[in-house]
This record gives sequence, C-alpha cells and structure tokens, in this order.
Amino acid sequence: MEQSYAGKTAVITGAARGFGLAFGRALAERGAHVVLVDIDEPAVQEAAAAIRAEGGQATGIEGDVTDATRIDAIMEVAARHTGGIDILINNAGLHSHEYNKPMQELGVAKVRRLFDVNAMGQVTCTLAAVAHMRGREGASIVSIASAAAHLGRNAYGISKLAVAGLTVAFADELGSDGIRVNAISPGLILTDTIRAELPEATKVQARSLQMIPRFGEERDIVEAMLWLTGDKARFVTGEVLRVGGGMGAGV
Ligand SMILES: NC(=O)c1ccc[n+]([C@@H]2O[C@H](COP(=O)([O-])OP(=O)(O)OC[C@H]3O[C@@H](n4cnc5c(N)ncnc54)[C@H](O)[C@@H]3O)[C@@H](O)[C@H]2O)c1
Repeated sequence: MEQSYAGKTAVITGAARGFGLAFGRALAERGAHVVLVDIDEPAVQEAAAAIRAEGGQATGIEGDVTDATRIDAIMEVAARHTGGIDILINNAGLHSHEYNKPMQELGVAKVRRLFDVNAMGQVTCTLAAVAHMRGREGASIVSIASAAAHLGRNAYGISKLAVAGLTVAFADELGSDGIRVNAISPGLILTDTIRAELPEATKVQARSLQMIPRFGEERDIVEAMLWLTGDKARFVTGEVLRVGGGMGAGV
C-alpha cells in the first residue's frame, strides 16, 4: 500500500517546474498540503493551480531562497496549514549549460550567485523551517545535490558538494530533534529545462558515464524522495543517495 501524507505539510523550493513540480504532484497525490516556492511567480502560481485542478491541496508562493527574511515569512505561512511543517525539499538550484561553464567564463558575480542559491539557499530554508518541524512525527528534509558533486571539477559540482556536506552537518545538528536530513544526487535527468537547454551530444556523453544505458526520468528522482521522506527510511539520516544509473558511483 502507498504511504499516506494526509495531514502533512511539505514545502518544496524551485517547484514551478522540473523535479520541484514532480515532487509537489507526488506528495499532493498522496494527501499532503504542498507549498510550492519559486522565484518565478507566474509559473509557481500556474503549478499550484494545476495540482489543485488535479484534486490536490497546493499553495504557490513567490520567493528567492537566498532571501532569509522572505523565506522566514514563507515558512510561517506554510506552517499554518496543518500546524507545522513535516517535509522540506531544498530543490531550487542553478544548473544546466550556463552554470557548468568554467569559472573564468562565469566570473565572480555568477560564481557567487551559484553558491548563494545552491548552497546558502539550503542553509536559509533549513534554518527557517526547523522551528516549525521540531516535534512533528517523521519530520524529514531532503536536499537535491547532483552526480556532479561526486565527479566535481567545476563550480557547479563544488556547489553541490557543499549541499552534500551541509546535509551531513544538518543531520548531525537535527538528529536529536527527530528531524532526518538526507540528500539525493541525481545523474542527468531529462526535465523540460535539460531537454531544451542541453545539446544532444552533451546528453549522450553524460549517458556514457552511466552503468544503466538509458536516460534518467523525473519519476526516478520522485521515487527516491518518497522513500527518503517515508517511514521505510526512518533510521536513515546524513545520507547522500545517488540516483543516476551508476553515474558518479565509486567505492
Ligand atoms: N535535471 C537534472 O538532470 C539534474 C541533475 C542533478 C541535479 N539537479 C538539480 O535538481 C534541482 C532541480 O532541477 P530541475 O532540472 O528540475 O531544474 P529546473 O531548472 O527545471 O527548475 C529549477 C527551478 O528553480 C527555480 N529557482 C532558481 N533559482 C531560484 C531561487 N533563487 N529561489 C527560488 N527558486 C529558484 C527556477 O525558477 C526553476 O523553477 C536543481 O537543484 C538542480 O541543480 C538536476
């Protein structure tokens, strides 16, 4: 039987499209009230409306994960739905073709923004959410790192290595509060953004780094999120789960 999320509130960042929207849809289908946060206001409202039209409970809120004041206010509002926050998914991230360039091409301002969104965004949202998560049965945080963290040779990979490291640090800090903290490192997954932005040759080259020879799909990452936020993973914390058909695997 499918795990139920009825009576739970889940906050998902970067939820207007891609993984974030897929996470929102999966949790709403299973009964959660999902709070979708994204810097893109029209798109996040459209995403929440689509989930509501499918029968789910969803609220869309505009917010930049680097803006601590705004994120504090968003968590306050999110916590009102069911008296707290049960699940936080730190998914918002800068990635794809643009942010995989060498640092000499990106320049200081873009590298700083990359770390602000990908790494500090996780810190900002986690710190804002924990006060509303303490004492909630099965409270769980999942952050989205990347296979690039484990192969990491550029600024994007290192920003995601920080996500993996911060996951272990927060798991240690929050374990005694009953909050589990884990991360997923997806390999290349064909979201709309990746389909549109990544040249075909780069996709094929990335697939050649896998052990399972097919492209990754959003549902592969959704399944990992459902396992990590569910009761079956109740003794799992501080873990970085690679879901990439073997990309970045190593001993
Ligand atoms: N798709 C992949 O192959 C892949 C692989 C590994 C890791 N990831 C990671 O997974 C996450 C989601 O990937 P996706 O492919 O769904 O991405 P996407 O680009 O399709 O969606 C990301 C969303 O985040 C939002 N966002 C960007 N900056 C933000 C900010 N400062 N505050 C709030 N929202 C912001 C965007 O508006 C967008 O809606 C990212 O963290 C990415 O680095 C993706």
